[in-house]
Amino acid sequence: MKILGIESSCDETAAAILDDTTLLSNVVVSQIDIFKSYGGVIPEVAARSHLEAILPVIDQAFDEANVTWDDIDAIAVTHTPGLLGSLLIGTLTARTLAILHNKPLYAVHHLKSHIYSNWLPASGETVPSPAVSAGYDRPDPWDTARTKSEGRASAAPATAGGCDLRSTERTVDQKRANETATPTFPLLALVISGGHTQIIYMKEHNSFEIIGTTLDDAIGECFDKVAKILGLPYPGGPSIAKAAEAGDPEKYRFPHPKINDLDFSFSGLKTAVLRTVQKECGVELDYPSHDLKKLLSEKQIADFAASFQKTAVDILLEKLELARKEHPDVKSIVFAGGVSANNALREAASTIQDIKDSEQTDLTVYFPSPKYSGDNAAMVTMAAYYEIQSGVKPTDPYTLDISPRSAIS
Ligand code: KG4
Ligand code: ZN
Repeated sequence: MKILGIESSCDETAAAILDDTTLLSNVVVSQIDIFKSYGGVIPEVAARSHLEAILPVIDQAFDEANVTWDDIDAIAVTHTPGLLGSLLIGTLTARTLAILHNKPLYAVHHLKSHIYSNWLPASGETVPSPAVSAGYDRPDPWDTARTKSEGRASAAPATAGGCDLRSTERTVDQKRANETATPTFPLLALVISGGHTQIIYMKEHNSFEIIGTTLDDAIGECFDKVAKILGLPYPGGPSIAKAAEAGDPEKYRFPHPKINDLDFSFSGLKTAVLRTVQKECGVELDYPSHDLKKLLSEKQIADFAASFQKTAVDILLEKLELARKEHPDVKSIVFAGGVSANNALREAASTIQDIKDSEQTDLTVYFPSPKYSGDNAAMVTMAAYYEIQSGVKPTDPYTLDISPRSAIS
């Protein structure tokens, strides 16, 4: 079965083709370069950029997979959650193509896709070519006069979730690359992205029980906001991770939220960083936060980045450990979403492996290959593949709607 996947929920336009569980192509065009100058995503600009990129990206996915429409058995598209205008471009494209080519259409939840990135082949396994950007030289988002053929140009390094994919592949991923196994059930998924922080219990494929969620900011959002305070470029996650490499994670101590159960809260951590920076700089509480960066030295920025990152990682892993204790039956822990690219988290998560050894439990930890941590369409195809295996029926291409917010189910 060959599935064409389409993803456009935020600021990545992506298409991929999966043949059963073998990935034939995976094309991602990131809008990060556009939004770097704005310091964040502007929804209208994102939607317009998706519109310009989506057909060339799909074309390239077909070219790389060396297949035609006759070979495609199904189309899968992200329809929720995400930015309204961004979701619209992907779903309207998928609906049109499904009607035009008479293919069944599957509507996939974005967090489901992130979780299923853990079923994608790790780097160097069965992927014929590594994930590449579409080679689509993105036109100015306001310049609608440019045609799509003008827009195609030389290939640039792939980016996803703000990472330069070539530089983020490190030891933990290497470990995953050597493993051929996929996660086993029941499992706990820690979904950590720009919009979500959730612990999800899966007793089998396509079964999702949210057992913990953030009460305010998402973890990725917190990375992005702290990066702004420190004057680091958008997206904040990779910037913080990079700055933290030169910093002392013990330099500043930030409190952990006192939230019972498995829920999270990150707005207090963001404020704690802000207050500590203000104190360190000797300014009043109403001092404009965007000016603080001028008062910080490189060393201070690195120390704040490292200390914040350590606290965030500790909070995530503490909750995960609590969830594991409450669900001793789990056989796998999977990390998913843009923040799962974080190397400090990947290194710290190896302590779960130590727990496994000391308690002699049958538990394996999975991280997606960093090229699949951020938004991409390969994960959409894999989620759709397992939906289809689980007996999910296709959706009506004439009526499929989008939803900016909705829980995984
Ligand atoms: O999953 P994703 O690409 O998009 C959403 O579905 O939201 O996640 C994006 C988030 C951003 O907040 C970004 O700063 C964060 O993932 N992120 C990271 C790293 N790479 C991306 N956070 C921490 N460390 C990273 N290396
Ligand atoms: Zn995402």
